[in-house]
Amino acid sequence: MAPLVEARGVHKSYWLGEKEIHVLRGASFSLNGGEMASLVGPSGVGKSTFLHVIGTLDPPTAGEVLFDGQSAFSMSEEQLAGFRNSSIGFVFQFHYLLPEFTALQNAAMPGLIHRLSKEKAEAQAKEMLEIVGLGHRLDHKPGELSGGEQQRVALARALVLKPRLLLADEPTGNLDEATGEGIHQLLVELNQRLGIAAIVVTHNPRLAERMPRRLRLPDEQAKAEKAQKDVEDAQRALADAQAKLRGQRQIARQAQQEAQRLNQEAQRETQDQQQQALQYQDQQSQQQHQLNQERAQSWTQEQTLSGRVVRKSGDQLRVRTEDQGVMNLDLSGTTAVSVDGRAATADQIQPGSDVRASYQMIDGKAKALKIDVTSNGSQQDQYQEQNQQQQPSTPH
Ligand SMILES: Nc1ncnc2c1ncn2[C@@H]1O[C@H](COP(=O)(O)OP(=O)(O)O)[C@@H](O)[C@H]1O
Ligand SMILES: [Mg+2]
Repeated sequence: MAPLVEARGVHKSYWLGEKEIHVLRGASFSLNGGEMASLVGPSGVGKSTFLHVIGTLDPPTAGEVLFDGQSAFSMSEEQLAGFRNSSIGFVFQFHYLLPEFTALQNAAMPGLIHRLSKEKAEAQAKEMLEIVGLGHRLDHKPGELSGGEQQRVALARALVLKPRLLLADEPTGNLDEATGEGIHQLLVELNQRLGIAAIVVTHNPRLAERMPRRLRLPDEQAKAEKAQKDVEDAQRALADAQAKLRGQRQIARQAQQEAQRLNQEAQRETQDQQQQALQYQDQQSQQQHQLNQERAQSWTQEQTLSGRVVRKSGDQLRVRTEDQGVMNLDLSGTTAVSVDGRAATADQIQPGSDVRASYQMIDGKAKALKIDVTSNGSQQDQYQEQNQQQQPSTPH
């Protein structure tokens, strides 16, 4: 025997402009006649959507809903509306009672829509209001009833045609806990007493526990949303990291520019220092050159000496000077020689004579240019003796 109701791979999407909200993703389940189940799941998971599709209020995007093995949505709109009215009762979080009508009139409404006579419809309504414990409130309008009583009227209205399936979407969500408990108790009793199959959506796990069967919608949407959120988080983290990287690159570029600038500065400084060093070297070498020139000049400059001849051999005259010690005087290039005021030759110079000579240092030798001699006669031997031991010194 086919189950009372069956869902096969039901998908349901809503479209918000371009955006698809894929709520049900292949939901499958079946419920037998007289069976009762709770339906739980976090808010937004698609519980109401599921009830609407099962209750034939809304066609699925894909998949099938079957009643007694027959595809519900293959019926015409009109057939489906009739089927729904007689076979499925709905209770919602809000009672949706018509405020101008009494409890009895509200509960009789489906009977009237089902084209029962007013008497028959109201008789059935009265019976059902008594079952839900409101036999004493038939003529009250919704505004004159408590929240729990209003929901009981709504329940009586849902059950007035003795449907085979009751779909209750958070029927106690709007009630205080004690009142909600009472409604739940009533639902369980009605299921047992009238044999009406029911699916009750509830957030209250304690109430869900009381149902013989518990259904849970897998939180596909939440999973998808979490995955989407993870992707967005990762994208944000990536964007952050990229921004950070851009910042670091910027800093690195600035550091590089600064390093280049410092390097150039250092190079300029080094160049300046080298320049200065070169100038200094230049100065030094100029000074050195000058010094050398001066020295060279001093070497070749004409100088004079005066002293006494201590020895003579060939062109070489050894003279004991007054201030430069003993000097050798080279006579080979001497142009002018005078002895006692008369022009003479080098041969005529005798040891012991006093000499005044001008000379030039050439190649370490004092070359006599002009030499004036005053002869001293007998003293010559004595001088020779005295100065025999002395070492010659070269001027410097
Ligand atoms: N008519 C609609 N149009 C667009 N989105 C809807 C519609 N009905 C429900 N939704 C969306 O589908 C998802 C499931 O909603 P619903 O079935 O009411 O969840 P639940 O009853 O489990 O809280 C939610 O994200 C909701 O915003
Ligand atoms: Mg809902």
